[in-house]
Amino acid sequence: MNLEELQASYDFSDCTILITGGAGILGGEIACALVGCNANVAILDRDIELAKKVMERFPTRVKGRGVRVYGDVLNLETLHQANETVKAEFGAVDILINAAGGNHPSATTSADLSFFDLPLDALRHVGDLNLLGTILPCQVFGREMAERGNGVILNISSMNAIRPLTRIPAYSAAKAAVTNFTQWLAVHMAQNYSPRIRVNAIAPGFFLTEQNRFLLTDKDTGELTPRGQSILAHTPMNRFGTPEDLFGAIMWLISPAAAFVTGVVVPIDGGFSAFSGV
Ligand SMILES: NC(=O)c1ccc[n+]([C@@H]2O[C@H](COP(=O)([O-])OP(=O)(O)OC[C@H]3O[C@@H](n4cnc5c(N)ncnc54)[C@H](OP(=O)(O)O)[C@@H]3O)[C@@H](O)[C@H]2O)c1
Repeated sequence: MNLEELQASYDFSDCTILITGGAGILGGEIACALVGCNANVAILDRDIELAKKVMERFPTRVKGRGVRVYGDVLNLETLHQANETVKAEFGAVDILINAAGGNHPSATTSADLSFFDLPLDALRHVGDLNLLGTILPCQVFGREMAERGNGVILNISSMNAIRPLTRIPAYSAAKAAVTNFTQWLAVHMAQNYSPRIRVNAIAPGFFLTEQNRFLLTDKDTGELTPRGQSILAHTPMNRFGTPEDLFGAIMWLISPAAAFVTGVVVPIDGGFSAFSGV
């Protein structure tokens, strides 16, 4: 299904969607796709200039509008401020997509950096960004969902959450925690606040973006690294994902079509997680 057909199937008119890390590669593409479904989309990121560039790509001739807000997912005060800005512009956040996250080279083992020498700061940064960077926005934007009795949260986990990949221990552990937290919050919201608050996640397979390009391709030649080759060999569909591959599952999970779906983590991975390698 192409993007136009998909967008014709989902209408998020009058819906406020906030995307953390919305200036990033996946977050930015998701933002563009959802504006095309008539959503009002708030891009929250630390890099407001990059957010502006994403907004310049927003489709025109749709009802959906965009706003960019500064926010650090590890700083509650900035998230509260962002919430006020978005409410003034569009009204309360109906759907929160937690797309801020990622690995960092300094938390990655290599020939020059053993597991035993991974710096504490780097490990803490990757752990905090992915786990606390998901929990804190859920506290800030989820509180009003709890008060209203409806809302949707979508987190981004990873293949690492199912089985850890080599070299990236902090990222793997943090994404496993994101999966666990998604299930925890889904149960907590439904039991304590409202069954109309749903919390789910997607677990993307391998998409070439800035955070993993250094692992999957050679920076000089652009050729696949042995790791990149191995990933493709373990992906039955034999290709990396593109951001468009995420849209169908995301739109379904955040829409009323998934009204009885909460606490799930949907792999979008070309079959990677299903393949034993044999
Ligand atoms: N790419 C993949 O193959 C893949 C696979 C599985 C899961 N994921 C997950 O998908 C999500 C999006 O990844 P991506 O590939 O689109 O990465 P990306 O391009 O690096 O996007 C992440 C965005 O989050 C922002 N960010 C980082 N720290 C932040 C903070 N403290 N507060 C607010 N924003 C912050 C980044 O801004 P800065 O530039 O300022 O750091 C960047 O704009 C991540 O959770 C990632 O772990 C990606």
